[in-house]
Amino acid sequence: MSTSAPLKVAVTGAAGQIGYSLLFRLASGALAADRQIQLQLLEIEPALKALEGVVMELDDCAFPNLAGVEIGSDPEKIFDGVNLALLVGARPRGPGMERSDLLSANGAIFTAQGKALNKVAADDVRIGVTGNPANTNALIAMTNAPDIPDERFSALTRLDHNRAISQLAAKTGAAVTDITHMTIWGNHSATQYPDLFNAQVKGQNAAELVNDQEWLESTFIPTVAKRGAAIIEARGSSSAASAASATIDAARDWLFGTPEGDWVSMAVKSSGEYGVAEGLISSFPVTTSGGDWTIVEGLEVSDFSRGKIDATVAELADERKAVTELGLI
Ligand code: NAD
Ligand code: LMR
Repeated sequence: MSTSAPLKVAVTGAAGQIGYSLLFRLASGALAADRQIQLQLLEIEPALKALEGVVMELDDCAFPNLAGVEIGSDPEKIFDGVNLALLVGARPRGPGMERSDLLSANGAIFTAQGKALNKVAADDVRIGVTGNPANTNALIAMTNAPDIPDERFSALTRLDHNRAISQLAAKTGAAVTDITHMTIWGNHSATQYPDLFNAQVKGQNAAELVNDQEWLESTFIPTVAKRGAAIIEARGSSSAASAASATIDAARDWLFGTPEGDWVSMAVKSSGEYGVAEGLISSFPVTTSGGDWTIVEGLEVSDFSRGKIDATVAELADERKAVTELGLI
C-alpha cells in the first residue's frame, strides 16, 4: 500500500441504489488498489439515517484501503478538498420515462453542486457525472463552476460502452477482452450511437467481421441504446451494480490512463471535433494519460455514422436549450 495521502473521493446520492454497490467497490480497492481512499458522502437530510447504516456496513468490512468516511448534507463540507467527485445523486427515471424527462427535476441539484465544487474542491479535482440526464447535468455543473477547468468534467457513457462490448462479444463468440476500440457517440440516451465501424475484434474490424447491417441497425444499436429501459422493465428499478461498475471503470481510466493501444468512451466537452457543436458534453472516443483526456481524432465517419451522430448531438443541443431556458446555465 502506498504511503501517499488518501485519495479523497466524494460520492453524492450515497444512500441510493448505485451508492450501495459503488461505495463497497471503491473501499475494496477497485479504483486504486495501492492507494487509500477517504470517502466523502453526500445525501439529502432525510436519507442521512439510511446512510449511517451503510457506513456501519462499510466499517464492518474492515477494508484495508478505507482511510475514513465522512457523511453530510452540506456540499461545501463534503466536497472540501476532494480529488474526485462522483455525482450520482439524482432521481432515476421510472417505466415509460425518457432520461430527458428528468431535466427539470434533477438539473437544480447540479447547479448547487457545481457551485460548491468550485468553492472547495482540491485543485486537481476530476468530476464524473452519473446522475441522469448525465451529459446535460455535467454541462450544468461545469457551467456553475467557472474556476474549475472545463476538462475536469465528464459524464458517464462507460456503461453504454461496456454494454456494447458485451453485445458484440456475444454476437461474435469472442471474449470481452478481445474487443477494442469501441465508441459510444453523443448522449447517454436512446439516441446514442454505438459504433461498430471503428471497433475491433481481435484486431479485425468489427463491422466487417459481423457483416450484417440488419443486425447492426435493428438489434445491436437498439439493444445497447435501450438497455437502461429494458433493465427498468425487468428489475422494476434502474441499473445499479452495472452503473456503479462503469462509474469506477471510467474514473480509474481517467485518473490512471487507458490501456495502451485502445480507447474508451467518455462524454466530455466538445471543441467541435467530428462536427459536434462546441460546448456540448458529448461522448467521444478518448485516450487518457496523467489524469487528462484527449479525443481520438481522424476516425472515418461514414454517411450512416454521420446521420446517427448528428441525431444524438441534436438532442444534446435541445437539452442545452431547455436548461438554458430553465435558467440552470
Ligand atoms: P436512487 O434513487 O436509488 O438514489 C439516488 C440518491 O440520490 C437517493 O438516495 C437520494 O436521496 C439522493 N439525492 C437526491 N438529491 C440529492 C442531492 N441534492 N444531493 C445528494 N444526494 C441526493 O437512484 P440510483 O439508482 O442510485 O440512480 C442515481 C442516478 O443515476 C439516477 O439519476 C439514475 O438515472 C442515474 N443512472 C445513470 C446511469 C448512467 O449510465 N449514466 C446508470 C444508472 C443510473
Ligand atoms: C441506464 O442506462 O441504465 C441508466 O441511465 C438508467 C436509465 O434510466 O436508463
